[in-house]
Amino acid sequence: MFDLSGKIALVTGAASGIGEAIAFKLARQGAFIYVADIDETNGQRVADDIAADGGQANFLKLDVADREACINAAETAHNEHGQLDVLVNNAGLGHVGTILEASADDLDRLYAVNVRGMFDLTKAVLPKMIERKHGVIVNMSSVGGVVAVKDRIAYCITKFAVVGFTKCIALDHAGDGIRANCICPGRVETPFVKARIDEYSDPEKAYREMAATQAIGRMGTPEEIAAAALYLASDEAAFVTGTSLMIEGGWTVGK
Ligand SMILES: NC(=O)c1ccc[n+]([C@@H]2O[C@H](COP(=O)([O-])OP(=O)(O)OC[C@H]3O[C@@H](n4cnc5c(N)ncnc54)[C@H](O)[C@@H]3O)[C@@H](O)[C@H]2O)c1
Repeated sequence: MFDLSGKIALVTGAASGIGEAIAFKLARQGAFIYVADIDETNGQRVADDIAADGGQANFLKLDVADREACINAAETAHNEHGQLDVLVNNAGLGHVGTILEASADDLDRLYAVNVRGMFDLTKAVLPKMIERKHGVIVNMSSVGGVVAVKDRIAYCITKFAVVGFTKCIALDHAGDGIRANCICPGRVETPFVKARIDEYSDPEKAYREMAATQAIGRMGTPEEIAAAALYLASDEAAFVTGTSLMIEGGWTVGK
């Protein structure tokens, strides 16, 4: 079950948090992992940790907001392995603010990474996947891609776009052997969330309130999100495409 032996996977934003946990989870099921991230130090650390854990991984320096770099990353995977089976578009940026507080530049900055980067990298890897009639794409959206989250307008715009992007890829390429799904996590305790919490005047209160947003009363762990990514990446999810998998501790259950 969930066997990924012989599969080649590229995970963006894999130097930290959810992406790091996904890279580990897929590697433990036998996949070779490209740990793709803008952060060289932590990216190399994750690749080394996976190797020390008995897995196979290479660090690949990648800024997903750089179109040429996305094209080069796809070429690297194909040149080195002749195939890419799984693409996990996980890299993402956050922002706290209403429309009055967020600037158009804030929106552009988030959009370039959270949406356009996903578009460019998927566009770069898809032709070879279609040629092989096999490919899995897992995109990281958020609860904020399904319901509005207070004071997160720029973030929510980008994460709603990820849901739409995923559905379009799923519909356009189902006949090509491609599956595309996204994951919508609730709050997960990662450096990303810790940075957001530190933006509040009372971080401890913000932490308690963020934990309480989930019906379950706590934040998720990166591993709990990685489990969903593993399922979607594996053949166990062969009949699943275009879906938005809510892994959110019941955040939206009463909404
Ligand atoms: N943590 C949460 O509560 C939560 C909830 C819902 C969705 N998400 C989403 O999950 C994803 C991962 O979040 P996280 O909490 O693990 O964040 P994180 O900040 O811990 O990790 C994000 C990683 O992305 C990398 N990155 C940033 N910009 C990049 C770029 N331009 N190119 C390549 N890599 C880049 C960073 O270097 C970092 O390693 C994001 O898309 C985020 O929006 C997180």
